[in-house]
Amino acid sequence: MVAITIDGRKTDAKENSTVLENVRSQGIILPTLCHHEEVSAFGSCRLCTVEIKANGKWQLATACNTPVAKGLEVRTNSEQAIEARALAARLLYSKYPTTKAVRDIARQVGVDVADEKADAKDCVLCGLCVRACREVVGACALTFADRGLGRDLDEPKIDFTTDACIGCGSCAFICPTGYVRMETTGDRRMIWDKVFKMATCKVCGRYFAPEDQLAFISKQTGVPMSALMTCVSCR
Ligand code: SF4
Ligand code: FES
Repeated sequence: MVAITIDGRKTDAKENSTVLENVRSQGIILPTLCHHEEVSAFGSCRLCTVEIKANGKWQLATACNTPVAKGLEVRTNSEQAIEARALAARLLYSKYPTTKAVRDIARQVGVDVADEKADAKDCVLCGLCVRACREVVGACALTFADRGLGRDLDEPKIDFTTDACIGCGSCAFICPTGYVRMETTGDRRMIWDKVFKMATCKVCGRYFAPEDQLAFISKQTGVPMSALMTCVSCR
C-alpha cells in the first residue's frame, strides 16, 4: 500500500493501482468514456482529468492511466480540473452532438446540451472495442485505421478484419455508444456486417454461441469441439 491524498483526505492505495480506481473508491464520481476496467488504459477522451502534484507542481493528468505513487496528491475538484473535464466534454459534444452517450456525459459535467433529437450512435473512437478484441478475446479483428506517422489523422476509423472475427460480440458489449451493431436471430448472428452460424446446445437444443467462436476456443485451449457444445445453463 502507498499513502496518497485525494482532495485533502489521506488514504491508502494499492501499489500499481490507478488514480481513477482510488478516486472512485472514495465515492467521487469522475466521468469516463474510453476506460473499462477489463482492458488497458488508453487515455484518449480526457474526461477523467484531475490535477496531480508532481515535482512540487500541480498539473493536469488523466486519472485512468496515471498510476499512484507514494505521497501523490490528487485534486478532483479544483477549478482547473473541473474546467479541463468540461473542455473535454465540450470537444466531444461539438463533434458528436446527437450521440446519446456523449450528451449524457456533457450534461453530467455541466455543459449546455441542446434539446434536439439525439439518437445517433456514432463511433467516438474510444478504442474500447479494439482493446477488448485484442486483449480479452485475442482475436485481433479490430484495429484503428489512418493512425500513425504519415497517415491522415483527420479521419481515423475502426477497421474490421472479417476473417479474424469470431462473432463473440465483446465489441458490441463494450462499445459505450451502441455503434457496434449485433443482431442474433435464430441460428444466425450478424455483427460488423458479417453473418455467423450459431451452434446448438446438445442438451437443451438452444442456439447459444457462434460456431466460429467455439472453433476459436477449441483451437486456443485444445478442448475438442464436441466438449464445447453445451450452453452455460446446461453445464
Ligand atoms: S465502435 Fe464503439 S467501442 Fe469501438 S471505438 Fe467506436 S465507440 Fe469505441
Ligand atoms: S477515461 Fe481517462 S482519458 Fe478517457
